[in-house]
Amino acid sequence: MTDTKRILLIISGGIAAYKSLTLIRRLRERNIAVRCVLSVAAAKFVTPLTVGALSGDKVYTDLFSLTDEQEMGHIRLSREADLVVVAPASADLLAKAANGLADDLASTILLATDKPVLIAPSMNTEMWEHPATQRNLAILAGDGVHRVGPDEGDLACGEIGAGRVAEPDSILATIEAMLANTSSDLASVRALVTSGPTQEPIDPVRYIGNRSSGKQGYAIAQALAALGAEVTLITGPTKEPDPLRARVIRIQTAEEMLAACLKALPVDVAVCAAAVSDWRASVPANQKIKRSGKSQHLELIENPDILGRLSAAQPNRPTLVVGFAAETESVIENATKKRLTKGCDWIIANDVSQKSGVFGSTHNKVHVIDEIGVEDWPVASKAVIAERLAARIASKIACRSIVP
Ligand code: CTP
Repeated sequence: MTDTKRILLIISGGIAAYKSLTLIRRLRERNIAVRCVLSVAAAKFVTPLTVGALSGDKVYTDLFSLTDEQEMGHIRLSREADLVVVAPASADLLAKAANGLADDLASTILLATDKPVLIAPSMNTEMWEHPATQRNLAILAGDGVHRVGPDEGDLACGEIGAGRVAEPDSILATIEAMLANTSSDLASVRALVTSGPTQEPIDPVRYIGNRSSGKQGYAIAQALAALGAEVTLITGPTKEPDPLRARVIRIQTAEEMLAACLKALPVDVAVCAAAVSDWRASVPANQKIKRSGKSQHLELIENPDILGRLSAAQPNRPTLVVGFAAETESVIENATKKRLTKGCDWIIANDVSQKSGVFGSTHNKVHVIDEIGVEDWPVASKAVIAERLAARIASKIACRSIVP
């Protein structure tokens, strides 16, 4: 990426403003120019001096500074960037942007810009879940505004839930995907990615599910699309925003996921990152099962193995099939066996024990197992792991097309 790429970063108020400092450093490390705008509230959390020192540029804070208007009017400020990023994006600024208000520099820029906009919301869970915020988000999505996060976890207010600003690495990966003049490493390659949990009905109100957030699969779909692949993401229920440039098919059960996968064939690459429920109720009840004062027995039957089916699919087997192995013990040993029993080409092993904290987390530690051996990858954000995996896929596909 060259210095010609420019980000206008709007930092709005909130304790998460400090994370923008890391984001600025990451962007500068990649030679992406960053010009920052601080809202009045943001300037109470991080100083213009720090932001200016890190970005190496003047920091803009006040709509009505005559000098600023003469030097760099707010219209020019909004037009000179390749991408406008709002991180953290407060509920208040999102509400203004959704409704076209322009009563300070940040909201005026959002109304005046002709460039793509990416928001990284950050707020308390109640504020995030409030119908007004969700309405505003729907309006912004309809206006073509892209979103990354928020994550779930401990919030600065002491509560736990959705609303924590996405980690700087995830924001960076999304920025890079948006800035990329879609690289052509995987041009004309068709990719299928499964993601998220499946939900298997027990009765009309209950289901068997699991803790998968879908973050890793979504990040892989986005990373493959950024390299130019034509991506179909088949996903169980998640809270993740749609990846850029991917076709998203939503399903609920393992059988629906299998049917959607078989329909998406032929593809060149399949990555099965979904946490598919291994079992389903043999006969889901038509009506809600009532308490009876006695113990209940639920008969479970096995779900189809989607990764196994794709690995064996003849004559439509994808050139490269990649699976994941979610293990809680003997991670590498179990994953190595799993690669052989499933018949896939590569398996990405990860530790999903409670102590690893992988499910729902933004970070992951994986080992890539192929026909040659085991590669240990360092702990990294799921976005970074996805980019690295997409690059590995691109080089494998390139080799296969050279060697007949
Ligand atoms: N998988 C699948 N269909 C299933 C179960 C798993 O496609 N019914 C895929 C997952 O997407 C993952 C891989 O198989 O890529 C391994 O999933 P994992 O949950 O680790 O293993 P299981 O096959 O469920 O085996 P076990 O639970 O016995 O470890």
